[in-house]
Amino acid sequence: MELLIKLITYAITILPALRCAVADSAMHIVYVDKSFMPKVFSSHHDWYSSMLVATTDTSDPVMDLMYVYDNVAHGFAARLSQSQLSRLETTPGVLSYHADTLVKPDTTYTPKFLGLDSGIGLWPASGRGEDVIIGVVDTGVWPESASFNDTGFSPVPKRWHGACETGPGFGSSSCNNKLIGARAFNKGLLANNPNLTLSNMTPRDTDGHGTHTSSTAGGSPVSGASFFGYSQGTASGLAPQARVAMYKALWDEGAYTSDILAAIDQAVYDGVDVISLSLGLDGLPFYKDPVAIASYAAMEQGIIVVASSGNEGPDLGLLHNGTPWLTTVAATTVNRVFSGVIRLGDGTSINGESIYLGKPVVVKNLPLKFMGNCTDKKKLKETRHSVVVCDVKKYIGLATQTVKAAKVEASLFITDDIFSELFVRFSFPGVLITPQDGATLLDYINNSSNPTATLHFRQTILGVGPAPQVATYSSRGPSVSCPNVLKPDISAPGSLIFASWSQNSTVGSVGSHELYSPFNIISGTSMSCPHVSGVAALLRAARPEWTPAMIRSAMMTTASSLDNMMDPIKDIGMKGHPATPLAMGSGQIEPNKALDPGLVYDAGPEDYIKFLCASNFTYDQIKIITHLSSVDCSGASQDLNYPSFIAFFEGKNTSSLTDRAVKVFRRTVTNVGDNEATYSAVVKGVKGLLITVKPDKLVFTKKYDKQSFEVRIEGQIRNRKEEVVHGSLTWVDDKGNHEVRSPIVATTFSGYTL
Ligand SMILES: *[C@@H]1O[C@H](CO)[C@@H](O)[C@H](O)[C@H]1NC(C)=O
Ligand SMILES: *[C@@H]1O[C@H](CO)[C@@H](O)[C@H](O)[C@H]1NC(C)=O
Ligand SMILES: *[C@@H]1O[C@H](CO)[C@@H](O)[C@H](O)[C@H]1NC(C)=O
Ligand SMILES: *[C@@H]1O[C@H](CO)[C@@H](O)[C@H](O)[C@H]1NC(C)=O
Ligand SMILES: *[C@@H]1O[C@H](CO)[C@@H](O)[C@H](O)[C@H]1NC(C)=O
Ligand SMILES: *[C@@H]1O[C@H](CO)[C@@H](O)[C@H](O)[C@H]1NC(C)=O
Ligand SMILES: *[C@@H]1O[C@H](CO)[C@@H](O)[C@H](O)[C@H]1NC(C)=O
Ligand SMILES: *[C@@H]1O[C@H](CO)[C@@H](O)[C@H](O)[C@H]1NC(C)=O
Repeated sequence: MELLIKLITYAITILPALRCAVADSAMHIVYVDKSFMPKVFSSHHDWYSSMLVATTDTSDPVMDLMYVYDNVAHGFAARLSQSQLSRLETTPGVLSYHADTLVKPDTTYTPKFLGLDSGIGLWPASGRGEDVIIGVVDTGVWPESASFNDTGFSPVPKRWHGACETGPGFGSSSCNNKLIGARAFNKGLLANNPNLTLSNMTPRDTDGHGTHTSSTAGGSPVSGASFFGYSQGTASGLAPQARVAMYKALWDEGAYTSDILAAIDQAVYDGVDVISLSLGLDGLPFYKDPVAIASYAAMEQGIIVVASSGNEGPDLGLLHNGTPWLTTVAATTVNRVFSGVIRLGDGTSINGESIYLGKPVVVKNLPLKFMGNCTDKKKLKETRHSVVVCDVKKYIGLATQTVKAAKVEASLFITDDIFSELFVRFSFPGVLITPQDGATLLDYINNSSNPTATLHFRQTILGVGPAPQVATYSSRGPSVSCPNVLKPDISAPGSLIFASWSQNSTVGSVGSHELYSPFNIISGTSMSCPHVSGVAALLRAARPEWTPAMIRSAMMTTASSLDNMMDPIKDIGMKGHPATPLAMGSGQIEPNKALDPGLVYDAGPEDYIKFLCASNFTYDQIKIITHLSSVDCSGASQDLNYPSFIAFFEGKNTSSLTDRAVKVFRRTVTNVGDNEATYSAVVKGVKGLLITVKPDKLVFTKKYDKQSFEVRIEGQIRNRKEEVVHGSLTWVDDKGNHEVRSPIVATTFSGYTL
């Protein structure tokens, strides 16, 4: 065995000159039956490597394994020539092979990742969001961005009351049939800072954030987009045929609630259909939170309000916008890695993570030096003409600073920091690698008399799993302002999202040199929110008769709790343990399924008022939110008709039946399928608790029929603080066409009080 590994290493080492030389080889995925693995191999990786060597004749270069698949699929991916493929066919254990199909990346490439397709599903059903108006409250817009190209758009809908507020550098031609409105709100900012002079008074985006979020939600397709070579392809918003209106209320100089409230107020008046809010205010009860207040009125008028959960994760209970009448969005990763590919002197290839915008793009054949935790600047300077390897674990920030200061030619950081995503962007040639790949690297250094490495930057690798995963930074529930409604509602891509940017705002630096670009790749729940806003716009176009609560319900009950490996979605902030609904809500948004949810949980102003009444607000506080002149609280009820469930337990030490708590939820579902239907309840249990659903069968005789049921959770969570257990209730239709899933959370986390 020892010999065999040496042989493979040797074969790869002597042939690199031939790499790339052969044009007839192409990436393939090879599926294998693992039970065929000969005993001489200690791992599948070794077995697959040997297959590659065995199928190679002298005219072929030996190619590297690009991936080893071990979960949903068993097999590997590699560049293979025709002659290798025909030899693989007769190799014992090989089941089949497939050419890697071209995934043409879109912007946000995330429309594709979410399954949106011109041929079938929500895109054609909605005319890709045709004529729906998305209002975005943000830092403004860069109107010259190709994402706001209006070629092929019909004139602005007549119902539109908005305006294009002009000013120096922002003429009336800044708006068009795509970007149909742009307004600026800064009176509050100026009132609070009387001596302040704004650098730009117009709706122009001098930051980039607003251009990014608005183009993600409703940007036109831009072909040939790329960010310094990363993420090449067509950049498209989620609802490319929608109209966009910008309400600038976030300024470089600051942001005030008064301006935000004014912006939402105006947007409702102007006639938007969806409001996208990649912003939020922490620690405020509803009646003090301008977003909660303004979005109530919007909801009353049938406008869908979507907001970000915040970037305060991974600790529980720090979520904002946990408001029952809006949709709260958590952030997940995409199956795409921006990579620095490391090729070791022995031919082994490692895909690290890196966004580095500088040159050279290829750092060739330098000695590889292990430098411990890379905090000794003097030693780093002495070895600067090499690729230094840093084992950083927790001190990644300190190590990257020191390496940068030492002006090392290139560096590799071995880390499993749950926040490592925040370090992916380098202003010097650096790459993050996992501890597993780090071990390979260190073994190679230790076993080689002259270890070397070559680095290739600006590589984008698609199809990487597992994805999605909940991002560490994404704020977790329960909602501070409203713990009895499970929040966040849903997850969408938020990590390393590619979209348009303001050309007046830097996208990064190389050394101390600032760079500019029409696109940028950034992360946050700010980026996940406009994905859901875009999908909501598509649903508004496809289902004009649905209320905001119905649209939210459709998105939530069809969301996926599984990743692309068909495993439960993982939480990076919990070191890869399965994510709970307090992190991901109902799961990852599935736009095409949301078009046809089967049943929905509807709720309107009356329901929210009953809920507010039961939540111990004063009449005056309720009036602030509802604008009612008199509030009738006779029907007070905590049973808001919500498509998810959260129950709080004390965490007692008891096994006695008398100490069991009972939580009861009442819900009503509406059949939005075309015909009569029968649904049965399927409960996925919550550890240690008894859950019953009554009735457990619902019969609907026609479209829009409503049926009610009760969910009872009984028992006690034993003696644990901050315990979060979860399960689900799924209504499954007899014909197998629909699964209407609601997460159930039981927790002893008591949260914070306002
Ligand atoms: C807008 O899009 C059209 C059609 O895709 C294209 O021909 C035109 O050049 C674009 N305009 C700008 C300013 O990018
Ligand atoms: C504003 O400017 C005036 C006059 O220059 C000064 O007296 C005052 O203190 C300033 N106010 C603030 C809030 O800085
Ligand atoms: C880095 O390693 C050195 C030497 O092993 C050690 O003295 C130092 O405490 C380490 N620094 C950190 C931040 O871990
Ligand atoms: C390489 O070195 C590591 C120690 O760093 C050792 O455990 C491993 O067995 C060596 N591998 C080979 C093939 O010699
Ligand atoms: C590499 O070898 C050195 C000396 O033999 C040893 O101290 C070190 O722990 C080894 N590193 C790894 C990663 O095995
Ligand atoms: C971009 O920024 C520069 C300097 O910050 C400024 O002079 C210029 O007017 C800005 N351009 C626009 C279009 O706002
Ligand atoms: C409302 O207040 C009462 C009395 O203080 C309390 O028992 C109840 O739990 C409160 N309800 C909510 C939803 O906070
Ligand atoms: C629960 O039981 C543990 C030991 O099983 C004991 O240490 C603890 O004090 C008990 N707590 C309560 C609240 O009874």
